[in-house]
Amino acid sequence: MNKQTIVGVIGAGTMGSGIAQVASASGHSVKIYDNSKAVLILARQNLVSSVDRLVGKQKISGEEGESIKGKIEWVNDLAKFADCGLVIEAIVENLDIKQKLFSELENIVGDDCILASNTSSLSITSIAAACRKPERVIGIHFFNPATLMPLVEIIKGLTTTSETESKTKKLIDSWNKTTVLAKDTPGFIVNRVARPYYGESIRIYEEGIADFATIDWALKEKGGFKMGPFELMDMIGNDVNYTVTETVWKQFFYDPRYKPSLTQKRLFEAGRFGKKSGQGYYDYSENVVVPEPKRDHTLAEKIFHRVIAMLINEAADALYYGVASKEDIDLAMTKGVNYPKGLLKWCDEIGAEKILSILSQLKEDYSEERYRPGVLLKKMVKEKKKFYS
Ligand SMILES: NC(=O)c1ccc[n+]([C@@H]2O[C@H](COP(=O)([O-])OP(=O)(O)OC[C@H]3O[C@@H](n4cnc5c(N)ncnc54)[C@H](O)[C@@H]3O)[C@@H](O)[C@H]2O)c1
Repeated sequence: MNKQTIVGVIGAGTMGSGIAQVASASGHSVKIYDNSKAVLILARQNLVSSVDRLVGKQKISGEEGESIKGKIEWVNDLAKFADCGLVIEAIVENLDIKQKLFSELENIVGDDCILASNTSSLSITSIAAACRKPERVIGIHFFNPATLMPLVEIIKGLTTTSETESKTKKLIDSWNKTTVLAKDTPGFIVNRVARPYYGESIRIYEEGIADFATIDWALKEKGGFKMGPFELMDMIGNDVNYTVTETVWKQFFYDPRYKPSLTQKRLFEAGRFGKKSGQGYYDYSENVVVPEPKRDHTLAEKIFHRVIAMLINEAADALYYGVASKEDIDLAMTKGVNYPKGLLKWCDEIGAEKILSILSQLKEDYSEERYRPGVLLKKMVKEKKKFYS
């Protein structure tokens, strides 16, 4: 694959439109399809305004803007994808619908065309299972907004060949993205390792230890996170965030470590999705008094240490079970969710011994599997090792 490769994008929603813009800005001719004509028209208008805004702010030249817009063809017939060398699917997160689309696509595209899914939580292997040539099916997981977020996770399914993986990585690297390789496991890297940032913070709230504003403040103040967990969940959307949590939990055969919370489930049920619906953990209506955190530094340290210990435990487990390399796990969290540091590097700074003692204390206090320290973390402490030496 090279700049001459025609890139097909299926689904012109939030992710598909962004991916089409990225591919076009990288010099490809792009075809984008959506089964809703109305979405296709709206997506085209939005893309034109987004590119024009970039030109207006002088982020790109007028000529570049025209080229990005001109290289995208908005099509309403999948048969037009016949000459694509790469197709990226970004449709609804439903396995049956994705499988049906992939098997239909195989009758349209050539034998060398790589078929990719942008799925957040479905297994690539299960999508590939619907194909005659599963070896050319791969995960290319962009983050939202695709035009701005640098990270892309490349996921090789059980049946994907190494050749498909290396060709895909090479191409996406040429799009000025930071790629990481992830094993086909629930949540891949980011959507797995980040779970405790939300889950443990909600537990702290549910136990009455602190309110949303205080927990948000504590993690920003002591951890240097750009957004607190409740602000972030409200931005992502409690519908999206809850669904990812529930999917990861189910796919890990109901491992209690990933158990969703009732607090977030109720918000989801009530339609309190966050910023987009006007209310979530916080109220976004006009003239509302923003809740003030309790600026108690001792409490903040406790909150931070509990959450960071859970995050580091998850990152160490992902490394132990071969989800990705230590460098890619750290890169994924800084480039995909803006963490101030990679979690394994952070562990070296805080000390694995301290992290282990926090987890062991939590395990003793709660007698819950959720707090079990991972085997690698225990090994590191025993052998007095660091992740990076
Ligand atoms: N939104 C995110 O933050 C995010 C981030 C990373 C990955 N993803 C993944 O990307 C995919 C798309 O998510 P989104 O947020 O862009 O969704 P979206 O709802 O904004 O867009 C999906 C689009 O797919 C279209 N569609 C549905 N079924 C179709 C079909 N059979 N054929 C053609 N078009 C079809 C819909 O009309 C819609 O426009 C999902 O798999 C999601 O898990 C989402």
